[in-house]
Amino acid sequence: MLSPELTTFIQRIPKTELHCHLEGAIQPKTLLELAARHGIALPFSDEEGARKFYEFTSLNQFLEIFALACSTLRTAADFETITADLAADAHRQGIPYREVFFTYAYHQRRSIPWEEVVGGIAAGRKIAREKFGVEMWFIADIDRTISPQDGIRTVEMANASRDAAGIIGIGLDSQEIGYPARRHKPAYDLAKQLGLRRVAHAGEDVGPGSVWDALMALDIERVDHGVRSIDDPELVKLLVERQTPLTVCPLSNVELKVYPSIAAHPVKRLLDAGVLVMLNSDDPPMFHCDVLDNYYAVADTYQLDADAITQLARNSFKATFQSETEKASSLQRFDTEAARLKAEIFH
Ligand code: ADE
Ligand code: ZN
Repeated sequence: MLSPELTTFIQRIPKTELHCHLEGAIQPKTLLELAARHGIALPFSDEEGARKFYEFTSLNQFLEIFALACSTLRTAADFETITADLAADAHRQGIPYREVFFTYAYHQRRSIPWEEVVGGIAAGRKIAREKFGVEMWFIADIDRTISPQDGIRTVEMANASRDAAGIIGIGLDSQEIGYPARRHKPAYDLAKQLGLRRVAHAGEDVGPGSVWDALMALDIERVDHGVRSIDDPELVKLLVERQTPLTVCPLSNVELKVYPSIAAHPVKRLLDAGVLVMLNSDDPPMFHCDVLDNYYAVADTYQLDADAITQLARNSFKATFQSETEKASSLQRFDTEAARLKAEIFH
């Protein structure tokens, strides 16, 4: 059991989140409203039904349900609603800065124009800043299963909208088995040339070879998940040397049966090895969790103290795509606030 003091410390210490999918973060209440707005039938009719419906056996089965959530999104107003919701949710959890994925392939398949998606994101992002004081940036994820040519097209569209919609980089997600990261090398080469930041989901459904592939072929700057790197000491050594951040999502990994429990999860072993690990929610309502729940679960399982929590939260600021000057001042503000909170809560 976590002490009330540590629980309060986790709630109040500033954190960033760098691994959260816009379409996977729609709260059941909003999902039901969006479905009603567009006359779409869902396999559940209330929030409790949604909770029960979100049961997964694998990543690929999860992705089918992710597509169902996407099917409720049609207009810029829909994307604005879910972006603003995500800002309110960040504010509630003590998250002043969030980098968020969106995956256009799921909308393109339904003939939703790119402009509807980024128009809504831009409007929601403004609400995030003005109403909630939350800074949100976006990462345009390439669905691994699309063609290399469509991957390049995603980068071109992301680049054209980078200022309007706060798009800072590109990522890679969806089905890992059977779709090696290197298929999208042309898209990543272009992104690098254009000065877009580069991340990729890897080492979730496939072992360390998939992380090597993303690091070497795509020259990524951060690994999303990356947890299965633990099975290759050489890879762990490289991640430590380069201080390549891993955006780890422990409760997601348990829900998708990557690991049977948090106790069996490598998060603590990666941290102890010196890897720059930070905690995230991935697709929060679908995995019945938020960022705080991930901190609670890891802290409780591994008996972490306030200093260990501070390190995890500090890592979350170190791993952002802020400019070096912005990052230095964010870290300075973080250190002051963390020390103040520690003194206030633990006396
Ligand atoms: N899309 C949404 N969540 C994902 C995950 N955990 N892995 C791969 N693709 C995703
Ligand atoms: Zn993810």
